[in-house]
Amino acid sequence: MHDSSALSALRNRLLEADRRYRLGEATGMTDAQWDADLRELAELEERHPELRTPDSPTRRVGGAPIDGFVTVPHAVPMLSIDNTYSQREFQEWYERALKLLGLGAVAGGGLFAKTAELRLALEPKVDGVAVSLRYEKGILVRGVTRGDGEKGDDVTHNLRTMHDVPLQLAGSQPAWPDVLEIRGEAYLPFDAFEKANAKRAASGEELFANPRNTTAGALKQKDPKKVVKGLRFFAHGRGELDVAFAETTSGHSSFLASLRRLGLPTNPEAACVSGAEEAWAFITAFDTKRRALPYATDGVVAKVDAWDLQAKLGMTSKSPRWCIAYKFAPDRDTTRLLQVDWQVGKTGRLTPRATMEPVLLAGTTVRHASLHNADQIALLGLMIGDLVEIEKAGEIIPHVVGVRKDVRTGSETAVKAPLTCPSCSGPVAQADGEVDYRCDNPECPAQIRERLIWFCARDQMDIAGLGEKLVLQLCDAGLIKNFGDIYHLAQKRGEILGLERMADKKLDNLLAGIEASKSRGLARVLGGLGVRHLGSSAADALSQQFGSIEALIAASPDQLQAVGGIGPETARAVHTFLHSDAGGHVFAELAACGVKLTEQKRVAANATPFSGKTVVLTGTLEHSERGDLEKKLVAMGAKISGSVSAKTHLVIAGDKAGSKLAKAAELGIEVWDEAKLMAVLG
Ligand code: IVH
Repeated sequence: MHDSSALSALRNRLLEADRRYRLGEATGMTDAQWDADLRELAELEERHPELRTPDSPTRRVGGAPIDGFVTVPHAVPMLSIDNTYSQREFQEWYERALKLLGLGAVAGGGLFAKTAELRLALEPKVDGVAVSLRYEKGILVRGVTRGDGEKGDDVTHNLRTMHDVPLQLAGSQPAWPDVLEIRGEAYLPFDAFEKANAKRAASGEELFANPRNTTAGALKQKDPKKVVKGLRFFAHGRGELDVAFAETTSGHSSFLASLRRLGLPTNPEAACVSGAEEAWAFITAFDTKRRALPYATDGVVAKVDAWDLQAKLGMTSKSPRWCIAYKFAPDRDTTRLLQVDWQVGKTGRLTPRATMEPVLLAGTTVRHASLHNADQIALLGLMIGDLVEIEKAGEIIPHVVGVRKDVRTGSETAVKAPLTCPSCSGPVAQADGEVDYRCDNPECPAQIRERLIWFCARDQMDIAGLGEKLVLQLCDAGLIKNFGDIYHLAQKRGEILGLERMADKKLDNLLAGIEASKSRGLARVLGGLGVRHLGSSAADALSQQFGSIEALIAASPDQLQAVGGIGPETARAVHTFLHSDAGGHVFAELAACGVKLTEQKRVAANATPFSGKTVVLTGTLEHSERGDLEKKLVAMGAKISGSVSAKTHLVIAGDKAGSKLAKAAELGIEVWDEAKLMAVLG
């Protein structure tokens, strides 16, 4: 009892500080105090899991990884909106709205005579990722991605890490609506994006292309601890709402004001104007202003402000008529293509990269552009010496989007597909039906280097102190040639100390980092090897299923493929690698060095008997609606499937179940009757 009141007092104190922090006010506590209080709360919750609430501030940091994403239907669909790049179309949109509302009268000569101007809410179109947040009685209960507009992925665990997203609304009951579903944009400001990329560069990871991709990647993390720091959020729309709450607002701008009072951030650049002319003035001014904003924007969204007018305007088949996005054209310039290099990746893939005469584009000097693959070069008809058009829409590396063939001089030369590997000079081939050129020499020094960098990086073995630069130094000095060599570095102190910018202390840290990495477990090791088709989520799924390298090696390709998330191509590639000389050698070597090649089965904190299970319902169920039951199971982490296969975990069979039940019996899949299901569901 005493714990219970201490716990709620502590939680409230932290929630209040959290709210003030979001408003940019003094929180009344130091960072150290915050950390200490948070730790204490976490300990109390650990002792009393029953007292843990969904709005607890420990959820921001302490969330457990999820097993897989649960798809959730949107109560109100998340619509897309019409885009335009032209002022004329923007004007036409406005006039159509006036006419549909009966506010524009056609005067003589077919011209519009306006009888009134529409109040328009204008907001920057932030280049982020749309999400929907659901608050029930003031508490954040769920956050979902847009998905296909009808249903999205439950990403609550990741959204909770964002300080802009209140876990509990400001104020208290009865001001809180029973249901408040808001839509908004999760985005990453430039400085956080650069920090994230600097960190990735230091640990040798591939860089994020732009803040939007980084945000999308962050929301897709299963482990909230891996969510990039510094994500922000702006609310910009409504989903399901209490009627009573909706009625306290007259339109979009007053709705946003209500949201602000509830502690939800909205874009401070937003404005309300009267009519298309004022809107256009805002848009032009904003095109200049946006360049100084700390986050990426790519347009202005205009919305007819009043709810009643929005309702009258309604929708076309795909988007609301009361809303339009005016988009700014991406920054574009021309420069000369000097050369194309082919860079060798960790799986041997060759990627073309353009080097150009430096040009200033969207605030940065640009020398390189990505060319994706050989097909792209052919498609563009690109030649060395060409004047090329490059475009940058938010990303750091621009794209070549066009070639000025009209100004060719005749001195341009063809871009040659690589005949040999630029690193090992070995043969290069384009496999049947594939656009990529590959170097198939597993001993290729460039591939080895890239694989070693990948192996040591944060998402793989996470070897502190062994970033890209040091890996390259060690490779050049001949101190590491394969994964096992990393674990023999402790015996090469003298040689390592001879490297540039190396010192005793740094070496000690490096060796400690290497030692610590031995316990990462099988999933990280597998994902770190850089085997083609074997990414981190496939490595995780396989490790969870088989638990040890021995069990994995003993599995047939069919058994590998029976694991959720493993396709035939991956199964084949993994099987081949596990049974190759190189594969056998790697695992023997790593095992000999004491690297852990087993994996603990994960038990999710909120696991249910259905978490991650594929369930098939068949036959007539007596006590429940099929649809309701499916929703319930999905909410408990199940995937519902319509057919029984080797990947099915559980079949729930009602009366008169037929072929699916027979198939389940044949495959030896667990079958429950309705009574058993009801007992488990309570
Ligand atoms: S309103 C039906 N407002 O742009 C109205 N969208 O919609 C729905 N976006 O991916 C959208 N900033 O996430 C709206 N201030 C803003 C926005 C905004 C960015 C995104 C939105 C969606 C895309 C098109």
